[in-house]
Amino acid sequence: MKVCATTRLLFCFALVLAVEVVQAEKALPEAQLFAVACAGCHTLSEETDHRIGPPLGNLGHRLAGSVVNYEYSEALATSGIRWTVPELTAWIIDTDARLPETSMVYSNALTPDEILRLTHWLLKAP
Ligand code: HEC
Repeated sequence: MKVCATTRLLFCFALVLAVEVVQAEKALPEAQLFAVACAGCHTLSEETDHRIGPPLGNLGHRLAGSVVNYEYSEALATSGIRWTVPELTAWIIDTDARLPETSMVYSNALTPDEILRLTHWLLKAP
C-alpha cells in the first residue's frame, strides 16, 4: 500500500513536469506574439508609416494619440490615456470596453500570460 502511494506521487510529479515542459515549448517569444497579433496594423517605428494603425515604438508612458501625422480617432486623441502596463493590458484584452469609438478593430485571441509578456516587452517595462 505504501509503495503504491509513493508510486502514484512520483507519477503525479512526472505528469506535472511533463505538462510544464510542453507549455514552455509552446510559449511564443514576445516578438513573435507581436508579429502574429499586432504587426498586421502596427510597426515598432517611432514615426508615422503606412500601416493602418499608428507605430508603437517608444510606447512606454507615452500619451495616447501622440504620434505626429497619424490621424487618430477623436476618442483616442482626447482620451488622456498614458500607456502603462495596466492601461495597455486593458486595451489589448478588450479595446472597445476600455474605450468605445476608437478605430482599432481588434478581437483578442492572446492568453492572459501572452498579453502580460507582450505588454512588458512593448513598454520595455521590467
Ligand atoms: C486590425 C488592425 C489592428 C490590429 C490587429 C491591432 N491594432 Fe492597435 N490600433 C489600430 C488602429 C487603427 C489604431 C488607432 C486607433 C484610433 O485612432 O482610435 C490603433 C491604436 C493602438 C494603440 C494606441 C497607440 C497610440 O499612439 O496611442 C495601441 C497602444 C495599440 N493599437 C496596440 C495594439 C497592440 C498591442 C496590438 C496587438 C496585440 C494591436 N494594437 C493590434 C489597429 C490595429
